[in-house]
Amino acid sequence: MLNDKLKKIVALAKRRGFVYPSSAIYGGLANTWDFGPRGAELKKNVKDLWWKKFVENREDILGLDSAILMNPQVWQASGHLQNFTDPLIECKKCHQRFRADHLITDNQWSRLAKQLTSLSEVDREGFIQDQFPACPNCGVKRQWTIPAQFNLMFKTFIGPKENTTNIVYLRPETAQGMFVNFKNILDTMQPKLPFGIAQIGKAFRNEITPGNFIFRVLEFEQMEIEYFIKEADWRQFFDNWQAKMEEWLAEIGIKSKNYQIRNHKKEELSHYSKKTIDIEYKYPFGYSELYGLAYRTDYDLKAHQKVSGQDLTYRDQISGKRIIPHVIEPTFGVERTVLALLCEAYTEESDRVVLKFRPTIAPVKIAIFPLLRNKPELVNLAKEIFNSLKTIHTCEFDDNGNIGKRYRRQDEIGTPFCVTVDFNTLKDKTVTVRDRDSMKQTRIRVDELSPFFRDKV
Ligand code: GAP
Repeated sequence: MLNDKLKKIVALAKRRGFVYPSSAIYGGLANTWDFGPRGAELKKNVKDLWWKKFVENREDILGLDSAILMNPQVWQASGHLQNFTDPLIECKKCHQRFRADHLITDNQWSRLAKQLTSLSEVDREGFIQDQFPACPNCGVKRQWTIPAQFNLMFKTFIGPKENTTNIVYLRPETAQGMFVNFKNILDTMQPKLPFGIAQIGKAFRNEITPGNFIFRVLEFEQMEIEYFIKEADWRQFFDNWQAKMEEWLAEIGIKSKNYQIRNHKKEELSHYSKKTIDIEYKYPFGYSELYGLAYRTDYDLKAHQKVSGQDLTYRDQISGKRIIPHVIEPTFGVERTVLALLCEAYTEESDRVVLKFRPTIAPVKIAIFPLLRNKPELVNLAKEIFNSLKTIHTCEFDDNGNIGKRYRRQDEIGTPFCVTVDFNTLKDKTVTVRDRDSMKQTRIRVDELSPFFRDKV
């Protein structure tokens, strides 16, 4: 069940063209969403800012765009075929499925999972019923199936026949594309340690319990960096990357009081990680993972070297020794960023709802209105201003309804500035520029609009 604030955000997101339920004309497809014009723009702003900060503005990070489908041996080597699983438990009465480790605490689950392996089939049945609470969906007690590990990777087949020799997987993380291209990058770009490979792209997970709007979905985008280092330096780079991730959050407008850092307990760590922290955002449904930062050691490169038989070592320039670098991995989900930004920006005031996005994040930067739509002299001038500003900024032209309603519409999508062409414009070539947050209007000369907006949006 969505709580009230989240319900309001979901409704606004649909009403204002940010996020639509996917394939809605056919009744939708649970936990898949489409991003409308404002959502697509918002996502693009997030990805562009991230790429600028972590790739273009750095000399030590190289961009990549690898394929979603890869040789299935990648997933065997990376450990995903064996370990990328969640424990699935089903209520025998209502057939609702849950993650066993979400019904009880992580600690309880890892203890219980170990105990299960030592019990006979008959004893397991009673043991499970004793350990788990009533079904959160139908309330029935002691009707659980025995939890089974469920692999989260989506499978498909290449070619017309569906058999075991042509299975491929939709990647569940972009990371592996970077590990399998490590040798290509070394050979073609000759980077020196420490260096990173970054990419933004789709990932897919057959989640057991998706939900909370775009928080946990089946198909999402990740912005990930694999940062290659010498083993001895891992702590220093781990701390350094945590600081960089927090710097990014401040830059996109997420306040530090609205997130917390959580260290993964040993039993929670992914199969490849020696240390992981989650940056958890205070969503309306509680603190939950926004981003992750993991020390992946040399696990992935070593595994790919072993299975592929290729040399994935790096030759140290000074000592001449060949080493397998270790990896620090900062990972950022795009949809979770969008959700956090919507939650952070959503503000109810006495007579309006406003999304207080940073201008760099806002999907529309400037809206341009003629005061009246039936006065061609105002409409033509407003169009002229729109045509000139839109070559530099994302702008919107709106002549629909009274001016108050137009301001409210722009407030709801978080547009920082609205420009209105009125009758004074015809006389003195000035327009009003209305600031979203203060709602103050200032008169500015038309020929000064461009320099006025230059460093504001
Ligand atoms: N390469 C490491 C990795 O994939 P992860 O914590 O499993 O780590 C990284 O995922 C990020 O991807 C998360 O921090 C989150 O932002 C996002 N993410 C993971 N699963 C998701 C899902 N089902 N829906 C939306 N975003 C998800």
